[in-house]
Amino acid sequence: MQTVYNVKLPHAVYGGENSIDNITTILKDHQVKRVAMFTDKGIHDSGLFDLPEAAVKAAGADYYVLDEIPPEPSYIAVQNIVDHFKAIGADMIIACGGGSVLDAAKLASVLVTDEYGVKELLDEPGRAKKCVPTILIPTTAGTGAEVTPNAIVAVPEKELKVGIINENMIANYVILDARMIKNLPRPIAAATGVDALAHAIECYTSKKANPFSDTFAMEALDLILNNIIPACDDPEAMEAKNKMQIAAFYAGIAITASGTTAVHALSYPLGGKYHIAHGVSNAILLAPVMRFNAPVCQERFAQAYDRCCHDTDTICQTTNEKAEWLIEQLERIVRHLEIPTSLKEFGVQPEDLDGLVEAGMQVQRLLVNNMRLVTAEDARNLYLEIL
Ligand SMILES: NC(=O)c1ccc[n+]([C@@H]2O[C@H](COP(=O)([O-])OP(=O)(O)OC[C@H]3O[C@@H](n4cnc5c(N)ncnc54)[C@H](O)[C@@H]3O)[C@@H](O)[C@H]2O)c1
Ligand SMILES: [Zn+2]
Repeated sequence: MQTVYNVKLPHAVYGGENSIDNITTILKDHQVKRVAMFTDKGIHDSGLFDLPEAAVKAAGADYYVLDEIPPEPSYIAVQNIVDHFKAIGADMIIACGGGSVLDAAKLASVLVTDEYGVKELLDEPGRAKKCVPTILIPTTAGTGAEVTPNAIVAVPEKELKVGIINENMIANYVILDARMIKNLPRPIAAATGVDALAHAIECYTSKKANPFSDTFAMEALDLILNNIIPACDDPEAMEAKNKMQIAAFYAGIAITASGTTAVHALSYPLGGKYHIAHGVSNAILLAPVMRFNAPVCQERFAQAYDRCCHDTDTICQTTNEKAEWLIEQLERIVRHLEIPTSLKEFGVQPEDLDGLVEAGMQVQRLLVNNMRLVTAEDARNLYLEIL
């Protein structure tokens, strides 16, 4: 447990019914003349974008839309968007999308300068300075990118995904409006929901865990374990969806205050080289890594049972039984949501193992947070288990 801790958060967060309407007041308060609206084609075409667009129009501000952001973009794709954005300029960025869109917008907000580009920030993230304020609206629940200081980009030449972290990328405003996730397709709701689940349990069992992160990680875990299935299965389960949106946000705060561990570390090469969606690669690794961690995380897993198990028919007595309950919940959720549980369908071959281990072991930024030391041999065994 870390004994010195701090957490830096957005200036204001608006949640609940019609919270998108707050955009109009924010723009008027800042006397914004031109807005750059970041989204992706899928969201733009789905009609979801109409709500923030109407709120911008109501403020009387000029705006233009940047929707060329691909899912899980490379740093080169982000730089292309940023160049387009820099050429037109804006005095406010509004981003409406999943983690891919939010991360691109966060990077754009610190890149209105010729001093450095995205590539330079990969090596020296400390150079980033806020240039344009941001309003972030997540449409998945989710990465928590709306609240973290992180932006993740793929680096094709390294076949890895890399996190750029700088507190200047923390949003000025966040809007959590459940209408944005109401029609999230089930496979996307499932994978992004399990990503948030991984954030919560990894941060709770991280070496960087502390009283701030524990509060948010545990509340997120309770909300996710008890709402993810109805939120994904039932299109009308608005209360469960709402709770998932709040939980993903809380799990993002837990990341900011603490840090993810070996699930995310070993997942990065799967995204970077095999282009497996972030939530899916984390879901595949989640239970195997937690089983690997169990010998040193039993107490924490048992605390999760005490807080999150509300089923009066399930009575676990010992720490061991309680820890096993948690790991079984992780397995049950991934199976129920029909997320792949192995790499079989992604074309990963046994001869790829060496490369995976080498790339995974490079993500020391997160591996050092894992309570149990992960050696190259351990990483190999974990990848072997999911081949
Ligand atoms: N910055 C952070 O703290 C952080 C944390 C975790 C992950 N990430 C990054 O976020 C990215 C993944 O983000 P994601 O999982 O949110 O997915 P995403 O943004 O890549 O979106 C996945 C797909 O879902 C579609 N989509 C999104 N919302 C929708 C909606 N409401 N209705 C219909 N379709 C919708 C998008 O159009 C896209 O095709 C990765 O690059 C990952 O590394 C960032
Ligand atoms: Zn994640």
